[in-house]
Amino acid sequence: MPGIVIVGAQWGDEGKGKLTDLLAERADVVVRFQGGNNAGHTIVRDGEEFKFHLIPSGILYPGKTCVVGNGVVIDPAIFIGELDGLRRRGIDPSGLRISANAHLIMPYHVMLDTAGEAKLGKLEIGTTKRGIGPCYADKAARLGIRVQDLLDAKILRKKIMAALEPKQQMLRPFLRDPKLDLHAMTEEYLRYGHRLEPFIADTARLCWDALDAGRTVIFEGAQGTLLDLDHGTYPFVTSSNPIAGAACVGAGVGPADIDEVWGVAKAYTTRVGAGPFPTELDDQLGAHIRERGGERGTTTGRDRRTGWLDLVALRYAARLNRLSALAITKLDVLSGIDPLRVAVRYRSSEGARLDELPYHQSVLHAAEAEYEELPGFEDEIGACRSEAELPTEARDYLDFVSEHAGVAIRLVGVGPGREQVIWMGEAERHLRAA
Ligand code: IMP
Repeated sequence: MPGIVIVGAQWGDEGKGKLTDLLAERADVVVRFQGGNNAGHTIVRDGEEFKFHLIPSGILYPGKTCVVGNGVVIDPAIFIGELDGLRRRGIDPSGLRISANAHLIMPYHVMLDTAGEAKLGKLEIGTTKRGIGPCYADKAARLGIRVQDLLDAKILRKKIMAALEPKQQMLRPFLRDPKLDLHAMTEEYLRYGHRLEPFIADTARLCWDALDAGRTVIFEGAQGTLLDLDHGTYPFVTSSNPIAGAACVGAGVGPADIDEVWGVAKAYTTRVGAGPFPTELDDQLGAHIRERGGERGTTTGRDRRTGWLDLVALRYAARLNRLSALAITKLDVLSGIDPLRVAVRYRSSEGARLDELPYHQSVLHAAEAEYEELPGFEDEIGACRSEAELPTEARDYLDFVSEHAGVAIRLVGVGPGREQVIWMGEAERHLRAA
């Protein structure tokens, strides 16, 4: 299993960290390829909870190489905070590498994110306000500050000055903020540079070496397909590409290096921030799912919007990522809900049947989901460890999802614990053999 991409098949928060953690055990390298500390993974290991925003989940395994790829935007203060947190808990971070080409989130990016949202008013995107969008904007505008710039004081200062110049107007409300002082900012980032230096590397080369030697590399996506800058529900998206194709760009490998693409989806749907959500449950049941599923953001603490599983969106994700396998997480959250509903198509405001996600945003905004009802299951399933132990209704639900998505389900999550998973069919044997 040399090159495996793991992507979110919904709007993020699908539980990718858990799958990465499980697959990472058998991998040599884990690479993050996009996003930044807008993401958040919670991993429960031996009853202990770990939260990561930037560091790949594989770090919990001794000796594993964990890479923050060139496609990631790094807030160095957050990264160093996570590094120190790992050390405090006795975890050796020496396997970490960060790309010299990755872009840095600067204090003004965070300010611009906040200012941009305020300016949009009611039209706000609901960003995580971590500076992600402005940082990627600077990258595209060729005004970005990269990790390698931290190693050269003169260049760093010059680049910060050039980046600040065109932002004067937007940054006016923050002019008194000491974080904006050119000298102080340069000094602060140079200090970060000293801390990061031992980890900075040519990570594309590192990935190449591993793949070329037949080792297993996991490309860990953040956010989800429907938040993709190009293919998601624009403008209510993030500013990077969470789809599988971006793994090549964001890690620096070729398409032929990718052997498998795993999509992760919850057994229902959640979304944080604004934007269309055709299967949203704005009622008591939605609140029940939120409560039971602990649907509060790891990063911002915001309540997540909740709804039924959307197979139109899932099929879309299966196609865009050419998914070779699906992991369905949090199936346990649905126990006790009867009947279960699954959206199989949408109906446009003009009455047209939509089997696929419509390309026009106005159509999607007004689309209504049409559902099929499936019998629910009463039993708690957190202790199930094999497909056969699941109630018939739960198995039928999974079969229905797999058939409609056109992708085999290889893993099912039945609780937050690492051991609370079911490998479906031959999945585990297949992985062990690879
Ligand atoms: P940004 O990525 O902070 O610019 O936010 C853009 C949109 O993506 C907002 O709707 C966020 O709530 C959403 N978003 C960003 N990161 C995540 C994530 O890790 N999970 C879920 N939603 C996210």
